[in-house]
Amino acid sequence: MRKPFVAGNWKMHKTVEEARLLVAEMLAGLQAVAGVEKVLCPPFPALLPVAAMLMGTEIGLGAQNMHWEEEGAFTGEVSPRMVAEFARYVILGHSERRAYFGETDETVHRKVAAALKHDLVPIVCVGETLAEREAGATEAVITRQVRGALAGFPPETVAAMVLAYEPVWAIGTGKAATPEEANRVVKDHIRATLAEMFGAEAAQAVRVLYGGSVKPHNAADFFAQPDIDGALVGGASLKAASFVAIAEAAAAGL
Ligand code: PGA
Repeated sequence: MRKPFVAGNWKMHKTVEEARLLVAEMLAGLQAVAGVEKVLCPPFPALLPVAAMLMGTEIGLGAQNMHWEEEGAFTGEVSPRMVAEFARYVILGHSERRAYFGETDETVHRKVAAALKHDLVPIVCVGETLAEREAGATEAVITRQVRGALAGFPPETVAAMVLAYEPVWAIGTGKAATPEEANRVVKDHIRATLAEMFGAEAAQAVRVLYGGSVKPHNAADFFAQPDIDGALVGGASLKAASFVAIAEAAAAGL
């Protein structure tokens, strides 16, 4: 069975001081949740201080992005080596990166390769926009993004990755997808594409999260879906009580 997985994507929120307060507030509650992989993804400046606070716990740390090059003349960028000093996970291809910062399937693929080289676990995001959904292009978009990000990697490597289905229209809007519809996309488009590319075993082993307005009141309904293994949580991860409640809902579904 796949281990449930809950990650908090803080996006561009929290100074170092605010990050420390938030982690201090949620630490005991998160540690009390057993059987769930829990990951915090603060902004870059907070990675080191949060890493120090998580030391000796089972809570993982992730970055929200990175460059694919080891080092060099890339002003303003952060390299996989720098991320891997503190973190074990990295979110790649988030729709906000794709929409506002020119991320493409090709750059996501390069970043996934770089993450693997540095033993980082990529959390690869895919998802269609509202216009794409209304045009009936959901399957085409998801399939293209999955293929674009993962083509050519060995099946056993892909099996250890984490994917996140995040319909763009559900992110930060309070309008989550229905759990049944999210499960349908994960099963029929994401896992089916993975099965074609890497075989049934790898497709079944990959953890696939749902993201987009996951809150304490709806989390359990997503976790009850057979093909959804957890959540990538934005807004609700900025409050200790709501993120802990979502992690508890994942544990309760075990
Ligand atoms: P949200 O964000 O939970 O605030 O909708 C999810 C995400 O973008 O990962």
